[in-house]
Amino acid sequence: MQSPAAIRVELGTRSYEIRVGAGNLSALGRWLEPLARGPRVALLTDPAVDALYGEAARASLASSGFSVATVIVPEGEEHKSLAGLARVYERLAEVGVERTSTLIALGGGVIGDLSGFAAATYLRGIDFVQVPTTLLAQVDSAIGGKTGVNLRVGKNLVGAVHQPRLVVADVDLLRSLPRRELVGGMAEVVKYGVILSPSLFAYLEENRDLLDALDRDALTYVVRECAALKAKVVAEDEHESGLRAILNFGHTLGHALEAATEYRSYVHGEAVAIGLAFAVGVSVRRHGFPPTLANRVIRLLESLGLPTCLPAEIRPEALVRAMATDKKKDQDRVKFIGVEDLGRTRFEVLSLGELEEALRAA
Ligand code: GLY
Repeated sequence: MQSPAAIRVELGTRSYEIRVGAGNLSALGRWLEPLARGPRVALLTDPAVDALYGEAARASLASSGFSVATVIVPEGEEHKSLAGLARVYERLAEVGVERTSTLIALGGGVIGDLSGFAAATYLRGIDFVQVPTTLLAQVDSAIGGKTGVNLRVGKNLVGAVHQPRLVVADVDLLRSLPRRELVGGMAEVVKYGVILSPSLFAYLEENRDLLDALDRDALTYVVRECAALKAKVVAEDEHESGLRAILNFGHTLGHALEAATEYRSYVHGEAVAIGLAFAVGVSVRRHGFPPTLANRVIRLLESLGLPTCLPAEIRPEALVRAMATDKKKDQDRVKFIGVEDLGRTRFEVLSLGELEEALRAA
């Protein structure tokens, strides 16, 4: 299948392309060649991804003349930490990464965020490329330059905005993704449909079976649409001074739910799906979002295999406490993103009391 044209993230001299398609991994070296400042690259990945795709990535890079060192980061969010970052720096020094080298993140969100922050800071900043291997990373985290690590007190509290030089998303890589991760990624896809694209939303409703069967064309269409939507938002508001915050739709509750359940009960996308259902419910009550549309959102999430209900055992107070410690809140008030219609968002500042009330009504 021919790879469709690249999507551009327009950021002046820091603009870059996102390549979405089936079989793209084999073209990584060819696409990097005109961009790279030097012949050395460090491929950062985890053992599972390395076993699946490391060879193919190295072969593509080597055939374009790059000398490749592989840096393996153990799997798991716990390695997206200051200690994990220090180990990455040491390995980058050991393998001889220089100012002109490029760091390549081959993996999901953990690898992307950690590699991106290492690239933002090592030698005061080197180039990096995102090769996302999960649906979540392909449609969201690999695009837009948010990088960072977690602290014990909260996620992503230390970081930098450092844009990649190139994003290469190969939808064939999604075939090896555990089902739960793939379905989780679909929550972010639904989010884009609800906040930015009625046509994507309708496509998801009509083509759920194709997506379920990992149809290459359907996956390419969906990842491409989401990447293009995110590219536009990032180009308009790189540092989240306004518009970019709409991408947090459904995440206020989603993050709180993950924190309140100690990151054990839900994969990120499942918590986001519950957050999306909550956000459309609040939107019906406060922003005139039509109940028929809210039902369609919930039906779509459920038909994709995502949860939409808060578990009975979690008390609203626990969720509000978790929201109160989220870095996106400001003095006991939370910027809540609602929708008035498909593709039309609205910001509202809610007190923690109002949020608790909304949770009780959910
Ligand atoms: N994941 C939301 C953003 O990149 O802004």
